[in-house]
Amino acid sequence: MAVVELPASLPHSARHMSKRFYLTTAIDYVNGQPHLGHAYEKIIADVIARAHRLLGDEVFFLTGLDEHGQKVQQAAIAEGKSPQAYCDELAAIWGRFAAKLQLTNDDFVRTTDARHKAAVQALLARLHREGHFYQSPYRGFYSQKEETFLTEKDRRPDGTFDPSYGDVVELVEENYYFKLKDQQQWLIDYIEANPEFIAPSYRRNEVLGFLKNNTLEDLCITRPAARLNWGIPVPFDAGYVTYVWFDALVNYISVPAARGDAAVLAAIGQAADAGGAAVELWPADLHIIGKDILKFHCVYWPIMLKAAGLALPRQLLVHGWWQKDGVKMSKTTGNVVDPGAVIDEWGLDAFRFYVLRELDIGPDGNWTDAGFAGRYQAELANGLGNLVNRSLSMLKRYRNGVVPARSDELAADAGRAMTETLTHLRASELQGALVSVWQLVTRANQYVDQTAPFKLAKDPAQAARLDEVLYNLAETCRVLGVLLQPFLPGTSAKIFRQLGLPDATVPLSTAAWGGLRAGATIGEPVALFPRKDQPKK
Ligand code: ME8
Ligand code: MG
Repeated sequence: MAVVELPASLPHSARHMSKRFYLTTAIDYVNGQPHLGHAYEKIIADVIARAHRLLGDEVFFLTGLDEHGQKVQQAAIAEGKSPQAYCDELAAIWGRFAAKLQLTNDDFVRTTDARHKAAVQALLARLHREGHFYQSPYRGFYSQKEETFLTEKDRRPDGTFDPSYGDVVELVEENYYFKLKDQQQWLIDYIEANPEFIAPSYRRNEVLGFLKNNTLEDLCITRPAARLNWGIPVPFDAGYVTYVWFDALVNYISVPAARGDAAVLAAIGQAADAGGAAVELWPADLHIIGKDILKFHCVYWPIMLKAAGLALPRQLLVHGWWQKDGVKMSKTTGNVVDPGAVIDEWGLDAFRFYVLRELDIGPDGNWTDAGFAGRYQAELANGLGNLVNRSLSMLKRYRNGVVPARSDELAADAGRAMTETLTHLRASELQGALVSVWQLVTRANQYVDQTAPFKLAKDPAQAARLDEVLYNLAETCRVLGVLLQPFLPGTSAKIFRQLGLPDATVPLSTAAWGGLRAGATIGEPVALFPRKDQPKK
């Protein structure tokens, strides 16, 4: 994307009028424990956010917490706390989790924020005024755990509901419904006309299959306040609070509204805040979500947006689920991966690398400690770490750390790695990007073995050849440092420092060959990924 410098004479407001690249994650249930699955999704979003910034886009990265609903209310009561106090305590834990992952989010939404509640109520009021809701009694089977009414289709062949729904009780309630019946065909047409709307394509097919083979039931969007009061009050009927999913999805526009996004403010009928620079965010470029919440995001959310007259997000990027040792992670069996513990033992970058390199965005993945240690050893320690360490140590030893004259022997390989990495990053193909980067790592390690600079160094007649080899290696290290910034920000900073460069981030375009200046002096080589003993069997 071209960055256009606006002339200084333009009014101040015109400088903030370009739309940001706006990406979001699912907002996590505040009462759950932050685990590998949450970390994975947030790291995906963080890498894409960092990549777009380094590609020259203005980015807005939103993540946050989903705090209302029955489970939170019950847990707070059980602990003798008010739901708000209970949420505040948990939110602090999630805040530390985000900091541990070094997420570069631009905002953090909590559905208990006043700004969020105001937007939900404004949207409800508008949709109610325009006749999208009706009131009706409903009798059905309700899963308290999933906070959803179940349908006949959710029954197993023996008539029971899956234990994952927890206790299922029959309820009769008067509630408000959102009319979905007339919304099916346009959504099918839209998804068919916009193949990139849902990625990967097998998730798109799943949604299309659902829409074509089922009649959409109207969506119950309220809960009687008598049963549940930990929710956003419905503005047109004091007897109700908002269904937690209707509340949660609105986070994607409540923050834009609070930031003064004109399209969202107009749609929900909120007044623009006169002060402060408005940020243009909507439509979102990317909603990053897990496969289990596909229907909420690909069916209900588009229908809510259309009813409000808002454009649909550009893409729903749907990732798969992690298991550990081939089994679903569960706190009760102790079969969990604790991201904090892994990061403390192996470092944040090793954790970020493993989850993104191991699992492409889409299919399910399987964490094994042996697999983690194996990738750490092979790709980080012996691959990248060894390349950087031996390249810079030789430059130090044989040339006193002074960069020789430019030589272009690895320029084509580096250029290919750069082009492929950038193409993958623009398409949110993070595993593909890492594969491309590691092709250059492997090539450069081969180059060391083939050119044998340690032998060249023993023969004064080979001094010019040694200069060439050392330049190619040091410059390759720099290119790798640039390309790895979105993925392994700490490692990139270390590579830059060891090369004697400022450790500030640089645009990805500076990965172009030839950036290292002849005559510059590098810094001290330090191991990037210290070797670890193999885990004891
Ligand atoms: O669903 N592997 O919150 P949540 C990968 N509040 N991803 C996983 C996972 C696993 N084992 N377990 C969970 C909610 N996730 C709602 C979202 S959005 C408006 C409201 C992912 O805490 C899951 O797929 O249960 C989801 O995208 C995210 O973690 C939050 O899950
Ligand atoms: Mg969940």
